[in-house]
Amino acid sequence: MESPDRPDFGNGVPINRLPDGGMLQGKVGGDNVILARRGDDFFAVGAKCTHYGGPLVKGLLVGDELRCPLHHACFSLRTGEALRAPAFDAIPCWRVERIGENVFVRERLSAPARRQVPVSTNAQKPPASVVIVGGGAAGFSAADALRREGYDGPVTIISADTSAPYDRPNLSKDYLAGTASDDWIPLRSPDYYRDQRIELVLNSRVSSLDARRKVIQVEGGKTYDFDRLLLATGADPVKLPIEGAPDSQVHYLRTYADSRALAERASSAKQVVVVGSSFIGLEVAASLRARGLGVHVVSRERQPLERVLGPDVGQFMRRLHEAHDVVFHLEDSVARLDGRKAVLASGATLDADFLVLGVGVRPSLALAEQAGLKMDRGVVVDEYLETSAPGIFAAGDIARWPDPHSGGPVRIEHWVVAQRQGQVAARNILGRRERFDAVPFFWTRQYGVSIKYVGHAEKWDAIDIDGSLEAKDCTVTYKLAGRTLAVATLSRDLQSLQIEAAMEGSI
Ligand SMILES: Cc1cc2nc3c(=O)[nH]c(=O)nc-3n(C[C@H](O)[C@H](O)[C@H](O)COP(=O)(O)OP(=O)(O)OC[C@H]3O[C@@H](n4cnc5c(N)ncnc54)[C@H](O)[C@@H]3O)c2cc1C
Ligand code: FES
Repeated sequence: MESPDRPDFGNGVPINRLPDGGMLQGKVGGDNVILARRGDDFFAVGAKCTHYGGPLVKGLLVGDELRCPLHHACFSLRTGEALRAPAFDAIPCWRVERIGENVFVRERLSAPARRQVPVSTNAQKPPASVVIVGGGAAGFSAADALRREGYDGPVTIISADTSAPYDRPNLSKDYLAGTASDDWIPLRSPDYYRDQRIELVLNSRVSSLDARRKVIQVEGGKTYDFDRLLLATGADPVKLPIEGAPDSQVHYLRTYADSRALAERASSAKQVVVVGSSFIGLEVAASLRARGLGVHVVSRERQPLERVLGPDVGQFMRRLHEAHDVVFHLEDSVARLDGRKAVLASGATLDADFLVLGVGVRPSLALAEQAGLKMDRGVVVDEYLETSAPGIFAAGDIARWPDPHSGGPVRIEHWVVAQRQGQVAARNILGRRERFDAVPFFWTRQYGVSIKYVGHAEKWDAIDIDGSLEAKDCTVTYKLAGRTLAVATLSRDLQSLQIEAAMEGSI
């Protein structure tokens, strides 16, 4: 039976129900479908984002793209293709037929074919081979993009990690909370690498790079020649020695193995002390509360997240955690561990079966430094993400690039930024000369409260809050000299997309 709020598009829809730029959700057979209108063009596409299943009808149409409200993935309305991370799989498309003043959604179309366009637009020959150092966000996305762009030559990912590329943001969220299973974590199954002919060399750390001879060497001595190289070595957690703390009592969180070890440890523990109150620390605190552990957070900051989100959002986050029985010890630090007691600089002692240290990360720059690439608190790249050595690109947490939005060279540690840089670097490896000008975006989610952040503000002189933090419904704007640099939103996902699109249009 047809439901009034989910019409059966097979029966036809009067076009006046769909204004230009509008979307409707309905059904075709058993499928949830969105009908979208752009001028006189009508499109029917799947209703669910292929990243985490976000409701695309609550997203935004920008030109002939549809953007997801949850983490800003971007799909082509014409082909369904996932144009920008964090989604990689296409959404399905249906044929639409207009008859008079009605549109009808007909049969489902076959998935978009791999691109047939020439790999290079400037008559340059495609590279003989591409090697990617790092199997994280940027490295995986680059390999995937090379294949999607039609590149047929050898692609090798060399990764120090023991696991194939995985969903790192989940490691501190659902996976650590115990609500996401192991099969949720890999970005792709082993079949994908085989089918795409992407050679995945795991558990191999690249120890040297000869930029002139175009050869890298991994620990153990094996060498790989390359024609083009992408460096995507990410970052490592800052290690903080704590007096009296054996390694077995101190956990860091960067890798899948780290998260598994933490989850295993939490399963037989009662009390944890989390050191650091930035994103990783707070997400770990929330996830370990979900597992029923008592959680104390010790941090040198005045308010959690203050450095990134300002004092008001920081205070809100603190209250949110306190409402879930997390105890904060701010402007304090762990002086030493005495058996199962953490002794703080203030003199307080806390029960601690173990510690989790989330005190920031350092970009993994050793390889780029050793190769003599130009550095500036990161690997310096141009707007095409190419380093000072021609043919060698860098992306993700290590790259410092000229961001047209904030006006300066920036290095940013966000999942989606790293993935999108990987995608753009891949196209530039193929000779496309595409500028990286995506607006930075990140999200965090704690106790079901999600913050979406677009733009980049390292400092500001004014913060405007529209709406109410306590009601978890607001827009927080970070400004410097009257200019909006970044905007954080709670429960205003569509607005976050609109702000991102406006920022894109302003350069
Ligand atoms: C637990 C956690 C949760 C996060 N949550 C969020 C979030 O919610 N939102 C958000 O925006 N960001 C989040 N981030 C940050 C985000 O994951 C990173 O910004 C992103 O992964 C960076 O991508 P990358 O490709 O630069 O590096 P990575 O994803 O870290 O990948 C680097 C890869 O390089 C490999 N490598 C390093 N050195 C070598 C070498 N010499 N030889 C070979 N391989 C090497 C590593 O093994 C790894 O495979 C989170 C990070 C963590 C750790
Ligand atoms: S669910 Fe759509 S981008 Fe994550």
